Amino acid sequence: MAKKIGVLTSGGDAPGMNAAVRAVCRAGLQKGMQVLGIRRGYNGLLNGEVVDMNARSVSGIIQRGGTMLYTARCPEFMGAEGVKKGRDKCIELGLDGIVVIGGDGSFRGAADLSAQGIPCIGIPGTIDNDISCTEYTIGYDTAMNTAMEMIDKIRDTAQSHDRCSVVEVMGRGAGYIAINVGAAVGAEAVITPEREYDLNAIAKNMQETKKAGKTHFIIVVAEGVGKTEYITRTIQELTGIEARATILGHVQRGGSPTVRDRVIATEMGYHAVELLEQGIGNRIVGMKNNKIYDVDIQEALSMKKPFEDDLYDILTRTAF
Ligand code: ADP
Ligand code: F6P
Repeated sequence: MAKKIGVLTSGGDAPGMNAAVRAVCRAGLQKGMQVLGIRRGYNGLLNGEVVDMNARSVSGIIQRGGTMLYTARCPEFMGAEGVKKGRDKCIELGLDGIVVIGGDGSFRGAADLSAQGIPCIGIPGTIDNDISCTEYTIGYDTAMNTAMEMIDKIRDTAQSHDRCSVVEVMGRGAGYIAINVGAAVGAEAVITPEREYDLNAIAKNMQETKKAGKTHFIIVVAEGVGKTEYITRTIQELTGIEARATILGHVQRGGSPTVRDRVIATEMGYHAVELLEQGIGNRIVGMKNNKIYDVDIQEALSMKKPFEDDLYDILTRTAF
């Protein structure tokens, strides 16, 4: 039933957001809707920073990292007044619904706006894969591949110098990037917020395997652990093996999205528009059992996501 929809990206950017924006725009147009691009997240909604989109507005963006709509954090939208202002703006702009591409925070805003009568659909876009209602978030695969390539390079120099490289990867409070990248690079240890760790045990393993011929080591640390420098110093002190810390940082947020990110973003974008077409709001599009589905936002926000304990255990048993 929606005749005019908006699309925005909010919170941290993620590779593949452009592919999602493209899919929303093209799907909306194909269904006879008018599509507005809202710039800089909820800020753009409050300030009326919008652009009328046609099919060519999203040409040549599917392969680009970042978000053509820009993104922002908007503290004003976190208060009831901000949300009411957002609703008034939607009415003024004639918007029948909005697709919000972002993380949990952005979805809270989408739920608030839906409660004010503006149907909103969330699409999970974050490299962290830390959104409970979905097995997959847009940007995760690209970020992991970037981190893996960087750590492969770090391994070259760690090997030349007989060192231990301690590499911090992103993930906010979650260790999904860390555990998967750790498995992919053959890390000797992965330290994540979800599992307890024992630096003495890691150091002992390192010393024993060094005696047996291992020359260098990679330890992957999730940023949520918050102790990368300390871990590096302690490992060096305990083992006598020279250690270096590398914080990969925002390099993980950029770059051309992988096949997986582009395809899932396209499917999710299309599904979001199908919901708005039927006048349905207050839903998040996600992936369940490898299929695209949608779920009520409140229900989604109350879910808990299990950690990949099996992978953690396999990694630990094959590390040394
Ligand atoms: P993410 O969407 O990646 O989790 P943030 O938590 O920074 O990122 O949230 C992005 C934006 O979503 C915030 O700057 C704010 O505009 C909006 N937002 C976050 N939490 C809420 C909330 N509880 N109510 C309304 N809007 C919110
Ligand atoms: O949520 C994505 C993410 O890159 C996290 O992994 C990280 O903790 C955070 O955003 C960094 O945010 P900022 O871009 O504000 O430095």
